[in-house]
Amino acid sequence: MAGRIILFGATGYTGELTARRMVVSGAKPLLVARNPQKLEALASELGGLETATADVTDPASIAQILEKGDALVTTVGPFIRLGEPALQAALAKGAHYVDSTGEPAWIRRVFEADSQAKASDIGAITSFGYDYVPGNLAAAMALEQAGPDATRVNVGYFFQGGFGASGGTMASLAGAMLTPGFEFRGGRLRTIRGASSDHRFETKLGPRVGLSIGSSEHFAIPRIAPEVTDVGAYLGWFGPKTAPIRYGAAALAGFTKIPGSKAAISAALRKALPGSTGGPTLSERAKSSSVAVAEALASDGTVLSTVELNGPNGYDLTAAFLDFAGRTLSTTGPLSVGSLGPVEAFGLPGLTAACAAAGLKPVS
Ligand SMILES: NC(=O)c1ccc[n+]([C@@H]2O[C@H](COP(=O)([O-])OP(=O)(O)OC[C@H]3O[C@@H](n4cnc5c(N)ncnc54)[C@H](OP(=O)(O)O)[C@@H]3O)[C@@H](O)[C@H]2O)c1
Repeated sequence: MAGRIILFGATGYTGELTARRMVVSGAKPLLVARNPQKLEALASELGGLETATADVTDPASIAQILEKGDALVTTVGPFIRLGEPALQAALAKGAHYVDSTGEPAWIRRVFEADSQAKASDIGAITSFGYDYVPGNLAAAMALEQAGPDATRVNVGYFFQGGFGASGGTMASLAGAMLTPGFEFRGGRLRTIRGASSDHRFETKLGPRVGLSIGSSEHFAIPRIAPEVTDVGAYLGWFGPKTAPIRYGAAALAGFTKIPGSKAAISAALRKALPGSTGGPTLSERAKSSSVAVAEALASDGTVLSTVELNGPNGYDLTAAFLDFAGRTLSTTGPLSVGSLGPVEAFGLPGLTAACAAAGLKPVS
């Protein structure tokens, strides 16, 4: 029997975009958030959807809503601070789980819950948004084109037009600056500071430089392509600020070793960037687009293939991806269980079709 789609964080910026997209797709998600007035207003505007209230400070409030076979789609972030109750509720109730995070430490947390997800017979899928679905698809396509000699992959995320981050994205980015990142080198995952290296990609827009970041590709790509020993992921959002951000991140890492400084910076950032402050308007989003590039390399560094995907603004992509994941998980379920990358969860043909439906297309 098909489960329900439970959309947690429905009154946030990304949650509301996702709710609207789901309704256009014909789905009837149960909208969940902490503010009943905001929930009711959205639910009635969207044709009378059902609602429920839950707050992560009361973990039972989310767990009691879920049933086995449901798909929990959560946009309640920053995830490293607010995400655990939703993940635990999905594991306890046997509900499939998908989130919108871009935070490296939370991505690692979800992939490291693999055995619990298997025991609960669920798919747990993290960072199913603009970052990091397109890079997973582009990397899988580049590896397929490159053939058996490819052992290394680099993915880069860029955009055209304004950056226009939501309040929730800024709050999550700020928190992510203070948590460790990771990389996949020499066939193993290693803890390493974010923005510790950069990489130059040749894109259709011209050369672009990205800063290293811990992403889902580090876990997901070696699982679908065990011959791959090195995965690099890079965010190229910063243009001329790339070098200052790289050196600033190094200075911050040094500073946070001073006892008490990390907690003080974290408190100041939470005050300055509280989240739930909205995001780019429809017309602002229409002026920007997203670009993901993946290159597959031989062990000597020769680039064997490059795949570039272009699509709409990252928030529209994220809403479309979460809509697809929610509908698929609540009906057919994922292709296997455990903590899953995008290709593992939906297969390469299924993911390719979903990305195309979201407006993400290969460019030649
Ligand atoms: N990977 C990607 O490409 C991508 C794209 C978009 C968003 N994101 C991530 O998704 C997350 C959400 O982004 P956003 O733009 O939607 O942020 P947002 O507008 O700040 O939304 C955050 C949501 O969390 C809810 N929330 C906060 N505290 C809560 C609590 N104690 N219990 C239950 N709910 C609580 C908020 O509820 P209220 O409505 O009551 O305030 C709101 O619904 C962020 O972490 C962001 O980085 C990632």
